[in-house]
Amino acid sequence: GMKQRLLVVANRLPVSAVRRGEDSWSLEISAGGLVSALLGVKDVDAKWIGWAGVNVSDEVGQRALVRALAEKRCIPVFLDEEIVHQYYNGYCNNILWPLFHYLGLPQEDRLATTRNFESQFNAYKRANQMFADVVNQHYQEGDVVWCHDYHLMFLPKCLKEHNSKMKVGWFLHTPFPSSEIYRTLPSRSDLLRSVLAADLVGFHTYDYARHFVSACTRILGLEGTPEGVEDQGRLTRVAAFPIGIDSDRFKRALDLPAVKKHVQELTQRFAGRKVMLGVDRLDMIKGIPQKILAFEKFLEESPDWRDKVVLLQIAVPTRTDVPEYQKLTSQVHEIVGRINGRFGTLTAVPIHHLDRSLDFHALCALYAVTDVALVTSLRDGMNLVSYEFVACQGSKKGVLILSEFAGAAQSLGAGALLVNPWNITEVAKNIEHALSMTSEEREKRHRHNYAHVTTHTAQDWAETFVSELNDTIVEAQLRT
Ligand code: UDP
Ligand code: G6P
Repeated sequence: GMKQRLLVVANRLPVSAVRRGEDSWSLEISAGGLVSALLGVKDVDAKWIGWAGVNVSDEVGQRALVRALAEKRCIPVFLDEEIVHQYYNGYCNNILWPLFHYLGLPQEDRLATTRNFESQFNAYKRANQMFADVVNQHYQEGDVVWCHDYHLMFLPKCLKEHNSKMKVGWFLHTPFPSSEIYRTLPSRSDLLRSVLAADLVGFHTYDYARHFVSACTRILGLEGTPEGVEDQGRLTRVAAFPIGIDSDRFKRALDLPAVKKHVQELTQRFAGRKVMLGVDRLDMIKGIPQKILAFEKFLEESPDWRDKVVLLQIAVPTRTDVPEYQKLTSQVHEIVGRINGRFGTLTAVPIHHLDRSLDFHALCALYAVTDVALVTSLRDGMNLVSYEFVACQGSKKGVLILSEFAGAAQSLGAGALLVNPWNITEVAKNIEHALSMTSEEREKRHRHNYAHVTTHTAQDWAETFVSELNDTIVEAQLRT
């Protein structure tokens, strides 16, 4: 295990706070792949620094929240409403997130975004400095500081300027786009230079790492080497560290009596029908409308299947203050309503769409009873839902239909049915194939996926990153 002290810095803490009274808070597990992966990392002396997801403007509330979070080894960064609006909703989720996933903004939002760019970028820098201040308060010599994701691209520079000896790593949980896309960003150089202040920069896939290095060579004119990026003799190591899950946690959950009971209930509830499942934050990158249209196409073309299959779509609400996400919600509701109206009967509808999150045990039960999981991301850094599904399919050995644009396609490609989510005819054909697949083929595909998911864990991912970071620093010292 790792005995080293680790400060994990991410915009989103693993728990989000809900206020219950003047000085009382309850904590709920946050949703999303970053949190899931980091929760899967054990046996580390780690502290978390991040935002608890709420605005707390009074001191009594702040002090109480600091205390409540300390029990979870979490340290809050307090962001006020204006900063959240400009930094989180604006710069992070309206600019960087769509750009990194190759999604344009709708025409009507483009100019407004261009006009707001500078004030949002300034808020982004200010927010990153606030995270840095909290890190500096808690840092002890020798600590590894591991910064996460697109929210904190400015952080490595803030930290190194304060203390050049700090060991700083940065990991991106999204894709890093081709430099042809990235170079449209007005703040392109500032962000790259700041990330390069880190000692080690990590990505989920080799492609993302390559895109990053070529952005540095083309935009900053620096030298890219197989090791990373060099600037006047100083090397920033760049490498791929594919993330994984804590697969044992899922297997253990399936053995719990409560989960077994839930599995039984669901099995009865959907008896006589094949269960197809989607689990996504309600985000543009997940291709939820495309997935549902493909399912409609499948129902259209396979009348025999109509009363023998059901699609359960769990759509976890996310970033609900960003207008794009609000539009997506109504768009999805409209499509679901239309299809259920078209193919529903008095006793059954083809799509169960839920705008909510599920607790861990309910989620495991759903994964376990699923025959076909549908992951149709238009782009996705990795996609842990696909891994979690596989981990829960030890007995059922169901089929995974997976977008070729998810990072997971690089690791589960041999076992999954890979699809282009934009081609709904192709996805519809794969649904048909998945539902009627022979058990031999299913088992063979499942074996591939299962072997990967159970051997490439979140724990390994974190250990590899941290030890690589330590090695990088030792090597740098040897060079000088
Ligand atoms: N998840 C969750 N609550 C839910 C449903 C799912 O926290 O109600 C988790 C899910 O188990 C997974 C994560 O959210 O670990 C989603 O990660 P993924 O990498 O698939 O996508 P992201 O949301 O990070 O884009
Ligand atoms: C993705 C991002 C994470 C983020 C998560 C949930 O996984 O990579 O950084 O935490 O989505 O989004 P939210 O905006 O709620 O933190």
